Amino acid sequence: MSELREKSAKLLEKYIENVNLRNHCYHVEACMKFYAEKSGEDTERWGTAGMLHDLDWEKFPDTHPNTAVPILEEAGFDMAFIDAILGHAYPERTNVPRETQMAKYLFACDEITGLVHAYSLMKEGGLDNLEPKGVIKKMKDKAFARNVNRDDIRKGAEEIGLELDEHVQNVINAMKKAKI
Ligand SMILES: [Fe+2]
Ligand SMILES: [Fe+2]
Repeated sequence: MSELREKSAKLLEKYIENVNLRNHCYHVEACMKFYAEKSGEDTERWGTAGMLHDLDWEKFPDTHPNTAVPILEEAGFDMAFIDAILGHAYPERTNVPRETQMAKYLFACDEITGLVHAYSLMKEGGLDNLEPKGVIKKMKDKAFARNVNRDDIRKGAEEIGLELDEHVQNVINAMKKAKI
C-alpha cells in the first residue's frame, strides 16, 4: 500500500465509524481509480479523492464537505484536490464549480455507486448479476434507495460525456474488481 493511501485510509477510519459509509467511500475510490486508469491520470490521486470525499459527513452532516477543508489542508492535500471534493456537493453548500476532470468524475461516481450497491444487495448473485439495463430501470422506482439523487446521476454521466449505461457498466466493473 502506498504512503498516500495508507495516510488516507487512516484519516477515513479516524473520522468515519459507520461501516456502510466507509464502504461507500471505498466504492467511490474504486470507481475513481478505474476512470483515472482509463484516462491516463494519476490513479492514486483520483482514488484518494474518491476515498475522502465524504470524510466529514458522519460527524458534520450539516456543514459537509466544508468542514473537511481544514482537515485535508492539515493532511497536506493541495487546493485542486480539495476543490474536487468541494465540487461534489450541492452548489448552495460550497459554490465550487467542477473544473477539473477529477472533480467531474468524482461527482459522476458518487450517487451511482450508492444505487448500484443498494441494488446489488437485493439481487441474487449480487454485483455479478447486475446489468446496466436493470440498474437504470430500477432508478425509475422512486421508492427504491430514495436518498440517491437520480438527477445527479444523469448529470454526472453527462459531465463526463458518457452514456448512462456505459457509465453504469464501468461502475459495476470497478466495484466488482474492488470486492468491497
Ligand atoms: Fe458527500
Ligand atoms: Fe458520497
